[in-house]
Amino acid sequence: MGRVAVTAQPGLDARRLRADFPIFEQAIHGKPLAYLDSANSSQKPRQVLEAMRRFYETSYANVHRAVYELGVRSDAAYDGAREKARRFVNAEPGEVVFTRNATEGLNLVAYAWGLDNLGPGDLVLVTELEHHSNFVPWQYIAGRTGADFAAIPIDEHGELRLDALDELEARGQVKLVACGLVSNSLGTVNPVERLAGWAHERGAVMVVDAAQAAPHRPLDVQALGCDFVAFTGHKMCGPSGIGVLWGRRELLERMSPFELGGEMIRKVTLERTTWNDVPHKFEAGTPPIAQAVGLGAAVDYLTEVGLEAVERHEAELTAYAWGRLSEIPGLTLYGPPPERRAGIISFNLDGVHPHDVAQVVDAEGVAVRAGHHCNQPLMTSLGVDATTRASFYLYTLPEEIDRLVEGLQRARKLFS
Ligand SMILES: Cc1ncc(COP(=O)(O)O)c(C=O)c1O
Repeated sequence: MGRVAVTAQPGLDARRLRADFPIFEQAIHGKPLAYLDSANSSQKPRQVLEAMRRFYETSYANVHRAVYELGVRSDAAYDGAREKARRFVNAEPGEVVFTRNATEGLNLVAYAWGLDNLGPGDLVLVTELEHHSNFVPWQYIAGRTGADFAAIPIDEHGELRLDALDELEARGQVKLVACGLVSNSLGTVNPVERLAGWAHERGAVMVVDAAQAAPHRPLDVQALGCDFVAFTGHKMCGPSGIGVLWGRRELLERMSPFELGGEMIRKVTLERTTWNDVPHKFEAGTPPIAQAVGLGAAVDYLTEVGLEAVERHEAELTAYAWGRLSEIPGLTLYGPPPERRAGIISFNLDGVHPHDVAQVVDAEGVAVRAGHHCNQPLMTSLGVDATTRASFYLYTLPEEIDRLVEGLQRARKLFS
C-alpha cells in the first residue's frame, strides 16, 4: 500500500491527509469542495482506488473455483481482505461474512436467524433511533412470525430511555434486541454494551448496527459483548458494494442459509443439499471480489491513520461546529451535546425547508444531506419531517464548517 500523506499518531493533520483524496482536487460551482456528508458515504483515498485498479489489472479471476495462477491470486486477495476485516474488529476466524452492505448483513440476520427463532409471545426490541435498515427488517420478520415488535423511546436529548425497558419487557419474552452504535441522524452514541448485557440476561440475541461507528472509532466486537455486528464499506473510505457482518460462530453455524446457490453448498443431490462451512454458507454466488480488495485497502488506510486519531479529530470538529451553529438565530439543533455524540449534527432553520437549505449551501460548494435520513420513526419522535445534516470525517477542516455557517446565514436572509 502507498503511504498515507500523513501518519497521524497521535494527532491527525486533515489538511495534509486530503492530498490522498482526488475528489478534493476539483472545484464545485467554482468553490473548493466542502464535503460534509460522510455519514451518507465517504470519499475514497488514492490507496483504495489504486488497490482495486491493480487487482483488476494483474490478479482478477473468480474466487474459490479457479486452479490457475490468476485464480490463486484472486483467492489470496479476497481471503486476505477478509483477514484484514477480521483483525479490524477483533473477530475470531470464520466469523466475518462479506455482504453487499450493512443493510444486507442486517437482513441476513433477520431472515436467517429471525424466521427460525421468533414466534408468538416473543418480543423484538429496536430503538427509535434506528436507521430503517435495522428497523424495517425486524418489524417485517416480527410480523411474519407473529412476534411482538417495539422500539425503545428516546428522551429530549435524543438518547435512549433505558428506564422504559421494564415496561417494554412486560409485552413478551425478549428474544432479540437491535440497536445502532451511533445514530446516523443525531450522532448519539448508544450504551450498546449495557443493552447487550440486559439482552443476554434474558436469553435474547443482540444485533448491533455499526455502520456509523466502524469508520470513525475503534471497534472491538468482543468488547461490545453482542452477537452480531454489521457495517458497510462505502462509509469507511472503501468502495460501495461490500459490507461486513460479524456473528458469533456458534450462532452462524446453527443458522439457516439466507441466499441459496453457488459457493454456499457442500453437496447437492436430487434429494437434498448440504451447506458449506461458515462464513461461506452465507456468501451465495460470485462475491464482490474487487470491492473486498478495496475494503481491505480501506482498513489498511484507516489503521495507518489511526481510529483513535480519527475519533479525536471528529470530536474537536463537532464541538467547534456545535458552537458555531448555536450562534445562528432560529436554528434548532437536535440530539445530545457535543461531548456525548459522534461527528454528525442534524438541525433545522426556522421557516426554511431542509432541501432549500441544502441547495443554498451547495451553491457555495458545501455538500450536506437534507431529508429524513432513513429515520422516519425518529423524525416523527422529533416532530419534524426532515432535517439538514452535516457530518464529518478525517478529511474535514474547521473552515468547511465556517463555510456551512456562512451558507446558513445566507439561507436565513434569502428566506426571511
Ligand atoms: C446507521 C446506519 N445503518 C445502516 C445504514 C445502511 O448502510 P448501507 O446503505 O450501506 O446498507 C446506514 C446508511 O446510511 C446507516 O447510517
